[in-house]
Amino acid sequence: MEVVALNENFRNLRQRVWLSRPLFEDITGRLDEWFEVKRTTPAADRYTAGEIAEHLRDVDGALVTLVENIGAEEIAGASQLRAVANAAVGYNNLDVAAFDARGIIATNTPDVLTETTADHGFALMMAAARRITEAERWLREGNWTKWSFDTLLGNDLHGSTLGILGMGRIGQGIARRATGFGMRTLYHNRSRLPETTESSVKATYVDFDELLARADHLVLVLPYSAQAHHIIDAAALARMKPTATLVNIGRGGLIDEVALADALANGRLAGAGLDVFEGEPVVRPELLALRNVVLTPHVGSGTLDTRRAMVALAVDNLIAALGCGPDAGKPPSVVTRQR
Ligand code: DGY
Repeated sequence: MEVVALNENFRNLRQRVWLSRPLFEDITGRLDEWFEVKRTTPAADRYTAGEIAEHLRDVDGALVTLVENIGAEEIAGASQLRAVANAAVGYNNLDVAAFDARGIIATNTPDVLTETTADHGFALMMAAARRITEAERWLREGNWTKWSFDTLLGNDLHGSTLGILGMGRIGQGIARRATGFGMRTLYHNRSRLPETTESSVKATYVDFDELLARADHLVLVLPYSAQAHHIIDAAALARMKPTATLVNIGRGGLIDEVALADALANGRLAGAGLDVFEGEPVVRPELLALRNVVLTPHVGSGTLDTRRAMVALAVDNLIAALGCGPDAGKPPSVVTRQR
């Protein structure tokens, strides 16, 4: 009887955290060493706002993925909540201002996914420029009846001009890869990089208009924000070369997909490679119908090692943000205001 009472007291002393979906049990199991863990799985693809609010109501912390949108409404009743660890580098699913107003810490997972995501961006660029998926589909459909000199001609990467919009860690990873392909790299970013970084990745800063006009291949890697919504719209597309390819590994909302589909369908842009979509997991029928767009289901960071590293970092962040473990009080990657 006493043991039961002691256990109950201990249980009450332990902080509670919510793990929003099953993620590598051998890694997230580390949370159990410190916390009482509430593990759930969404009934549908995503939780509703009401379900998220309910799950947050009685916990001190949460480990979530990029499809859990958490803002003022979801945290309103979560009086104990002190930390949310996002298992993604992008954190536009978290309303940082609302978190700051409540003193809730939010963390993300930078660095561990940089090279993997840069690989994927490069793969999409190559696939779009050399029409890899289009060619494969054409072949599988039985269209290859004779060899011909002008079958599915693409555009070169080597010797071409790469444009990078958003020159953070992943953008720099893509620029480094481009040097091996003999590409010239131009970039545009909110702030210009220090000269030493520019010369180490061999990239030249230009303004947005020049980037659009000169890029043979344009890769979007900037974080999504209200200011960046549809940064590539019909007007921006009209300033690009009709032979250019466009790659998006940031967030779907960076592109006006209707305008993009129209440009691709009408020969105003040669090709595109998209890993992210505005309404994902739903992809616009206009895009699905096109052959000159390579579509992948938001798998930029999707290798086993990298996804495991992201979850491990999110676990470290949550443990530290809730004042436990070797980094107690100093989570490795905080995105809210530091206090
Ligand atoms: C991120 O971490 O933001 C990526 O989009 C996940 O693949």
